[in-house]
Amino acid sequence: MQHLKNVAATHSCQPPTYEKPYFPINIHKAWAIVRQYQAQNVLSYFLNLFKVYGDTFVSRVLWLDIVVTCEPENIKQILQRRFDDFDIAPLRRHLFLPITPHGIFNCDGAEWIVVRKIFRTQFADTRAIVDLNMMEDHFQRMLERIPQDGQAVDLQNIFIRLITDVLGTIAVGEPLGSLSMDQKPETIAIEEALRHVKERIAQFGQTGPAHWLYNREKFRLASNLIREYIERFVRQAVQGSHDELASEDSARKRGVSFVQGAAYQTSDFASLRDQTTSIYLAGIDSVAGLLSSTFWFLSRDRRIFSKLKEDVLDNVGHDRPSYDQLSNSIYLRYVLNEAMRIMPGVPFNAKVANKDTWLPRGGGPDGTASILVKKGQIVSFWSWASHRNASIFGDDVEEFRPERWETIKGNVSGYIPFQPGPRVCPGQRIALAIASYFVIRLLQTFGSIENRDSKVWKEKLGLALSIENGVIVALS
Ligand code: HEM
Repeated sequence: MQHLKNVAATHSCQPPTYEKPYFPINIHKAWAIVRQYQAQNVLSYFLNLFKVYGDTFVSRVLWLDIVVTCEPENIKQILQRRFDDFDIAPLRRHLFLPITPHGIFNCDGAEWIVVRKIFRTQFADTRAIVDLNMMEDHFQRMLERIPQDGQAVDLQNIFIRLITDVLGTIAVGEPLGSLSMDQKPETIAIEEALRHVKERIAQFGQTGPAHWLYNREKFRLASNLIREYIERFVRQAVQGSHDELASEDSARKRGVSFVQGAAYQTSDFASLRDQTTSIYLAGIDSVAGLLSSTFWFLSRDRRIFSKLKEDVLDNVGHDRPSYDQLSNSIYLRYVLNEAMRIMPGVPFNAKVANKDTWLPRGGGPDGTASILVKKGQIVSFWSWASHRNASIFGDDVEEFRPERWETIKGNVSGYIPFQPGPRVCPGQRIALAIASYFVIRLLQTFGSIENRDSKVWKEKLGLALSIENGVIVALS
């Protein structure tokens, strides 16, 4: 209590705004959120709450006082300045327990530092990981699934298959064959299990304490199937690293896949399995989501499509891009930035304070004073709203306008598609290289893209944001 008073005094904290109604046990609010999930309207619901209560407010959900913020200064405090004051594992441990009990997504502190080093080392050489011959193989297989005669196709579905295969190759050296027309029943089952596990983790995470009401048997069985699949590769990798170390007495060598490389770093079997599995959980929906939102926008704006195609052809021509050429097209970078601004892969997130601490904004009548955050209190931060901050991005925030990035320089406050700070997405460069390669190759291949979807955009919240109706287009 004394500590809390000291923090409040040192940082001149003032009371935050409280969302109304504010009942001691706010079942009303929990029910409102569940209803918004069911209506797939959570993102605009919260955007509206920010308009009503300001960029930071406290919402009582059941018995929990949750700090809800889209204020760039607060987000910076949580992710960067006071990174050590906030944990994620207490909120997530139960979600990932059946699938990756030792995975990077559900640990903090000393355990996280050890695990993070594996990713840092294995992801250091993006050029070697995003092997362009491997990428082209997958691209050619993807083309077989796209009708060339102007028939409508759901690109989102195809991108999920594409990235499942790309990341399978990166993770264990073998795709699940998701793009293949004659995929093996065994890998179909693994892919189905992956889909189920991702959906359940997202659903349990979003329904709060109510998640205990759901039956977990299928989740457990699906997790077991995936674990057995990955364990096969871990066993081979561990054996391979032992044989090589014994025969050549060499220091650590880079393997061709993540699991092979990581086996030189650690012999912790469970950690190897869970970090490898985490690549499938972290990367598939997010990269497929970036490609999907990009093509969703391109199919609705002929000017931007033509300008991007011209830029790609000017910078890369018709040949396959080299690794260096992936980042040559400045306009492509603006297009990807803009897609991630309007449809960020992780539109909101949450952490929990591990000590009494504070956030620099949200207190007092005008919200400019600091607020106290008590040990154990949840803070929820919203890129969906901070990416729509008109004072940073201009009045036309809902418009897809890549040109806005011509004048936005450096690290943009509140723009957090990969969440900056010590826990920044370690796959960021890999994700951008993969997305750039496939956008470039698709624009080199097709002269036009036509939207064939008359429905309005609707959110689909999973481990990453996707589009409920898919990306229904015709390419020619
Ligand atoms: C456009 C694509 C991607 C986006 C927008 C994205 C975004 C993010 C974000 C926002 C986080 C923090 C989430 C959290 O833990 O709360 C994160 C974490 C992470 N991402 Fe990505 N990601 C992308 C692609 C990838 C890819 C391709 C990989 C792997 C190849 C990857 C691996 C990871 C890992 C391992 C973490 C956990 C980091 C940690 O907790 O220290 N991501 N990503």
